[in-house]
Amino acid sequence: MSFKHINFFMTKSFKTFLKHTAKDFHNQSVNPPVVRASTIIFKSMQHIRKTQAKAQKNPTGGYYDYGRQGTSTSHILQKILTKLEESYHVFTTPTGFGSVFLAIFSVVRPGDEIIVADPVYSPTRTLTQDYLKEFKIKTVFYNPHDLKTLENNITKKTKLIFVENPGSNSFEFQDLEKIISIAKKNKIYTAIDNTWATPYYFKPIKLGFDMSIVSATKYYSGHSDVMGGSLAVNKKVFNKVRAAERITGLRLGPDDAYLITRGLRTLDVRLDRHRENAKKVAGFLSKNKKFKLLYPYKKDSFNFRMWKKYYSGASGLMGLKIKAKNVNSIRKFVNSLKLFGYGYSWGGFESLVLHQEFGETGNRKYLNLAEDEHLVRLHIGLEDPNDLIADINQALRHLK
Ligand SMILES: Cc1ncc(COP(=O)(O)O)c(C=O)c1O
Repeated sequence: MSFKHINFFMTKSFKTFLKHTAKDFHNQSVNPPVVRASTIIFKSMQHIRKTQAKAQKNPTGGYYDYGRQGTSTSHILQKILTKLEESYHVFTTPTGFGSVFLAIFSVVRPGDEIIVADPVYSPTRTLTQDYLKEFKIKTVFYNPHDLKTLENNITKKTKLIFVENPGSNSFEFQDLEKIISIAKKNKIYTAIDNTWATPYYFKPIKLGFDMSIVSATKYYSGHSDVMGGSLAVNKKVFNKVRAAERITGLRLGPDDAYLITRGLRTLDVRLDRHRENAKKVAGFLSKNKKFKLLYPYKKDSFNFRMWKKYYSGASGLMGLKIKAKNVNSIRKFVNSLKLFGYGYSWGGFESLVLHQEFGETGNRKYLNLAEDEHLVRLHIGLEDPNDLIADINQALRHLK
């Protein structure tokens, strides 16, 4: 496949890059077209062999001989994401969870052990806590705020440390440099789920992680209508991930790749606005004694310091620890919000709310919730933040 007609247009500013990259001058379209192909067609026997030889020499160069490997549509998205991540390469998968699976199964084998942050996304917990057992892989969970529980559990068999930052629904921020240095000292691979911030606010590969996952379903696509995942890697793990990607066939389809590329055009604008809106809503919520705000807002906390140390911004997803007499009061509060839709996922343009029932937080070891405490997650969208505050304010009367 030739990309001569695509202008990748590298500029210093990432914001400008996102607006001008990947114009298609051959088709005269601002956005590159969707190229759908199962058969990749060649002019001759020599042409296919020549392309395969090029692919061998340059495995990230966008040379394909079959549709399962992708088309120019996925290659363009991968090139844009590689620039955003400042990584060696980015693999794209049909869902974010596909990238979690790919990261783990690329480097872990039967008999190995892995260490996982206690507050990971609950399907990641199910995968590592239960499913890996069937492959004779042992998992230990560590306390995100006590890295001794990580260090003390490392054995000769430990292969991977899997981090999610901040913690899913409980929003703990960890000391990431310490984790990387522990891993390097013990020659252990590292992976992080960076969906909350995206590399627009934090670049894990630059800091020293081997693999970094983003669910493209969230802020990359930005419109609550696409599923996808990205797995950024450094050179050290590239061949391992490439081999696992080939054998599992975990690749993003062209229509979704197109929509995610289109979403990325406005990633910076949307995320900056999510951040501004979330800061205003957080200011309002932090004044109410019924709430403990789980968001980097209060300057005196460990979480805030760790966020400040590694992140250049915060996204629109936050948690609330709410003291309430019973779950009924929480239900009434949540149900009477008019501008916050009730549903899974986040990262789209609109506000959402979710009460974290037990199944959603997983069977965590280090989550200390009193009986009268409940976790509610808010996604602060792109609406007028004054309307969002007014909506929360009117719903407060139900919190008893
Ligand atoms: C932090 C995090 N990682 C991964 C995923 C999985 O992404 P997907 O839903 O695209 O499979 C999610 C989904 O909610 C998530 O919140």
